[in-house]
Amino acid sequence: MTRSFAIKSFGCQMNVYDAERMGEALAASGLSESGDDKADIIVLNTCHIREKAAEKLYHEVGRIAARAREEGRPKPVVAVTGCVAQAEGAEILKRTGSVDLVVGPQAYHRLPELLEAQAAGVRDIVDLDMPAVPKFEHLPERRRRAPSAFLTVQEGCDKFCAFCVVPYTRGAEASRPLSAILAEAEKLADGGALEITLLGQNVNAWADGASGFGELVRAVAAIPGVERVRYTTSHPRDVTPEMIRAHAEIPELMPYLHLPVQSGSDRVLQAMNRKHDRAFYLDLIRQFRDVRPDLAITSDFIVGFPGETDADFEDSISLAHGVGYAQAFSFKYSPRIGTPAAEREDQLSEEVKSERLQRLQDAIGASALAFNQRSVGLVCEVLIERRGRRADQWIGKSPWLQSVVVTDPQLTMGDMVQVELVAAGPNSLEGRLLTRKTAAQW
Ligand code: SAH
Ligand code: SF4
Ligand code: F3S
Repeated sequence: MTRSFAIKSFGCQMNVYDAERMGEALAASGLSESGDDKADIIVLNTCHIREKAAEKLYHEVGRIAARAREEGRPKPVVAVTGCVAQAEGAEILKRTGSVDLVVGPQAYHRLPELLEAQAAGVRDIVDLDMPAVPKFEHLPERRRRAPSAFLTVQEGCDKFCAFCVVPYTRGAEASRPLSAILAEAEKLADGGALEITLLGQNVNAWADGASGFGELVRAVAAIPGVERVRYTTSHPRDVTPEMIRAHAEIPELMPYLHLPVQSGSDRVLQAMNRKHDRAFYLDLIRQFRDVRPDLAITSDFIVGFPGETDADFEDSISLAHGVGYAQAFSFKYSPRIGTPAAEREDQLSEEVKSERLQRLQDAIGASALAFNQRSVGLVCEVLIERRGRRADQWIGKSPWLQSVVVTDPQLTMGDMVQVELVAAGPNSLEGRLLTRKTAAQW
């Protein structure tokens, strides 16, 4: 009987992409995908960005083993992949007897052979290699068929922000070759993807010889069938004039920019080693808006970085007000072992962090609602991505990445429709169907 597998993924969109590719690799090696805990092999694709990542993992592993015991099944083979695997390595095997394999984010193309080795009796497998030959060349072709798809073009980070584990878990910045990216994008478009989101920890640091990120966007947008291109996450330091121009000139490039700032205070930005100040960031926003006035801008903030004063925090609030974000994520600073900021003695209390987080989230919520309310009355295209809660209700994305609810019995996933935006809330809008532009192709 063929063995079955299930993958559970945590963390960022890159992990979502990695999980898809692992799934495709395991399917190509003859395993069958199953949605649940009863699978013979369970892959936990982990994230290490904020607190309790490792605790959550051990809890999950314990739960899997206990459930198998209760149901009288043999314990599934458990593989831990992703950023906790890279950060904790063999420690994971020591901490729990229930994990069989630990595989880092740059080695997961070897998962099929490692699982075979495990089945043949090899124990305590740990593969944290960051090979010079990129994993992508060893992965099978994309099989995914969906209206919207992720495509990793760049991985790793050389920025070393003082709070962040990513440079340690994902390794140095590396770009995939243009030809490989275009081949994958064509494959995804053949599978019915109308929208492609280019991913990277610093996606706009992507380069291949003389080609920079702007050219990459242009080339992907030119692929027949690709109607929408998005990208995430950008670093302010890697923004180029060509990238800004892309927003002026490429109709397929959606009017949306996620540009994390982390803090509005120059003092904190410097302590964070962000390599830019407030004025530099605001000037970039101005340049983007000059070429694309309707651009939806989103961001990430950290509150309670060590040494952050009330005045520093007020600078974050004022920056958020000034930019008028369409949406933003904000997080309490979480000390990560091995990062410079975790060593500092001026850590802030949980109470202060929680208070500041609440205030910033209120400010961002108000700004998101205002952005959505300003959209009411606009006519735009919406790519239908999933069913809503009620009958005949569908949810899709506007060009500005807003969730739009459309009610119509005729629609299906993958339709591109034209709607009028008629009502707005903080997290979604309501759209009135005008026409169905193209029917689902996948
Ligand atoms: N490469 C991206 C973001 C990667 S992590 C960038 O440079 O913007 C995603 C977000 O998690 C970060 O933008 C940051 O806001 C948050 N984050 C990272 N490390 C954190 C930490 N130690 N504590 C709290 N939030 C953190
Ligand atoms: Fe982390 Fe900074 Fe790199 Fe982003 S740029 S991944 S926040 S170190
Ligand atoms: Fe988490 Fe790793 Fe992504 S730490 S945010 S899964 S790069």
